Amino acid sequence: MKRRIIVVGSCNTDMVIRVDHLPLPGETIIGHDFMTNQGGKGANQAVAVQRLGGETAFIARLGNDDFGAKSLRLLTEEGINTEFVRLTDGVSTGVALIPVDDKGENSIIVSSGANACLSKADIEAAEPLFEEASILLMQLETPVPTLISAARLAKQYGAKVVLNPAPYPKQPLPAELLEMVDIITPNETEAAGMSGVRVTDEDSALEAIEAIQRQGVGRVIITAGAAGAYTSIEGRLVRIPSESVEVVDTTAAGDTFCGALCVALSKGTDIAEAIRFANKAASLSVTRIGAWMSIPYEREIVLSS
Ligand code: RIB
Repeated sequence: MKRRIIVVGSCNTDMVIRVDHLPLPGETIIGHDFMTNQGGKGANQAVAVQRLGGETAFIARLGNDDFGAKSLRLLTEEGINTEFVRLTDGVSTGVALIPVDDKGENSIIVSSGANACLSKADIEAAEPLFEEASILLMQLETPVPTLISAARLAKQYGAKVVLNPAPYPKQPLPAELLEMVDIITPNETEAAGMSGVRVTDEDSALEAIEAIQRQGVGRVIITAGAAGAYTSIEGRLVRIPSESVEVVDTTAAGDTFCGALCVALSKGTDIAEAIRFANKAASLSVTRIGAWMSIPYEREIVLSS
């Protein structure tokens, strides 16, 4: 059985400041501690896959700078296959500015830097990885044409395509991409952006799921924070609840969910159980500060029966 999970995506250095509240437009506020953390939706998902028991290969671009060198070293130390993570001259490694408030909510500004250089040629160079891949996992912090190439290659080798549509783009995603996506994992805001339906309860969740499926996607899983996650099984809405926990920082919770989901699916776990595993991993991550720093290890996931 093929087990490899390929993550195509971004890697950022996160500049985090704790604040009492997120600043309003035009407002200057004095924050608390400052941290420089490892992050980026792609790297977070790759780290989640690896720590939660998957076999991960990451395809990404970093700047040829101190942040890039550090990220590459740490990704490799995690045990991730980084053969196709390339350092790029003349651009900086991606950076994210993240204030986190006292309720654990954040807002994020990303300067893409080298992430924007991830190209179709990078995907083609990594073709040998796809021969042993069971799942390709992607997000939207790298160019969409590159993601389309990766999805095509995944399909050619029989791998499933999982897309985390974050950050949600200004332009609708091309049908060419959505038709290759087996599983999409929007949060409620992204689901509303894709479907035009505001997700407020189970009925609206099902309506949003069906609207997104009509765009060509196989399965839709809407992540809903403390409420857990929604999907549809045989046309019926199913909500898989999440444990209630004390939230410290929600950064990378969605990334942890996606990584965990792919690990469980790559082992043949059924969808409801895979979502339970992913909910548990994500709920642990929100109890800790930071992105990579918050992602749990497989041994920490204890599911109640
Ligand atoms: O999903 C969280 C991530 O979004 C952060 O780590 C930041 O780098 C941005 O990519």
